[in-house]
Amino acid sequence: MTEQIKFFLPGPSYVLEEVRQAMTGPMAGHRSAPFKAFYLKIAERLPKVLRTAGDVMVATGSSTLVMESSVLSCAASDVLNLTNGAFSERWHSISKSTGKNADKVAFPWGEAVDPDTVRAALRRKRYEAVTVVHNETSTGVMSPLAEIARAIREESDALVLVDTVSSLGGAPVEADAWGLDVVLAGTQKALALPPGLAVFTLSDRAAERAAKVPHRGFYTDLLRYRDKHREGGFITTPGIPLLYALDRQLDRMLAEGMEARWTRHELLYRRTAEWAAARGHEYASAPDARSFTVSCLRPPAGVDPQAIVKGLAERGFTIGGGYGDWKPTTFRIGHMGEVQERDLDVLLDEIDQVVEGVAAGAAVR
Ligand SMILES: Cc1ncc(COP(=O)(O)O)c(C=O)c1O
Repeated sequence: MTEQIKFFLPGPSYVLEEVRQAMTGPMAGHRSAPFKAFYLKIAERLPKVLRTAGDVMVATGSSTLVMESSVLSCAASDVLNLTNGAFSERWHSISKSTGKNADKVAFPWGEAVDPDTVRAALRRKRYEAVTVVHNETSTGVMSPLAEIARAIREESDALVLVDTVSSLGGAPVEADAWGLDVVLAGTQKALALPPGLAVFTLSDRAAERAAKVPHRGFYTDLLRYRDKHREGGFITTPGIPLLYALDRQLDRMLAEGMEARWTRHELLYRRTAEWAAARGHEYASAPDARSFTVSCLRPPAGVDPQAIVKGLAERGFTIGGGYGDWKPTTFRIGHMGEVQERDLDVLLDEIDQVVEGVAAGAAVR
């Protein structure tokens, strides 16, 4: 039986019943031989999702844990944070709060990170690491990650730290081909898993540099994660039920195929864009930088986005409101994870009905 999805938050996203059921498996000793064999099967499949020949580690914690860990592990001092929304700003706050000498190059909300501006910044100063968010969930902007990484690699020897929290599994991410040193993502977005785990890569050159960085912490030391992973395990007790879910969802994702998954997400974005243009909902993200996984929209004049979110909730549908400063003016549709075009079509029709009601209510008043 196919499940109709009515839950379109830009994370956490809808988790299929089958994957939720997988979490009810019995507990196991995480250092036992059967559990190690189970984890090895995860370790063999995850690199196919992040497109790397290297290791992919799993942390029990949310994406922010690995954002912080990557800064602590990969730079002793000088970090450059590229910002264009709330989550890239978070990486700047993390860099400062962990005592790094952090600069930022800020792009306006709604716009992509521009590779040429990044090049210019790297010519002015040497950095040990540069952070970039591939897909800004707050604004629905997807930046040209391959070009940004190329600019960083060509202009410097800085490590490229990338947040793919809301793009991994929903848009092309090529850890090796694009020269990315740390690629991290929580599992609760386009991977369509419950929150609580984060996956990440650590390139060989990043591991070599990390070995020389003092005070990497314990829970935040990516090198420690990698060494334990190579022994077949974890630095601490992992979220075992979440790993059961990951195991099941990896099979589903790889059966669909990563390319097919990216294409499905692109089509969901295009379907949303077509509908938005016809109804007068305006994208808040620049036209050349729209996300495959989240559409951030401004409704037509006179329609309150928060009334749309509320009206949908009354009908049993969930979408995201605007984020931060954009809360009063935008709403966000998370078309990610396991959402199919038929689910999206039902949602868009529901939004039409809610907007009609909101507009009629405004006319009466
Ligand atoms: C792009 C991006 N980065 C980081 C985060 C923080 O993730 P978490 O809440 O898993 O720590 C989010 C959460 O929405 C996000 O969308």
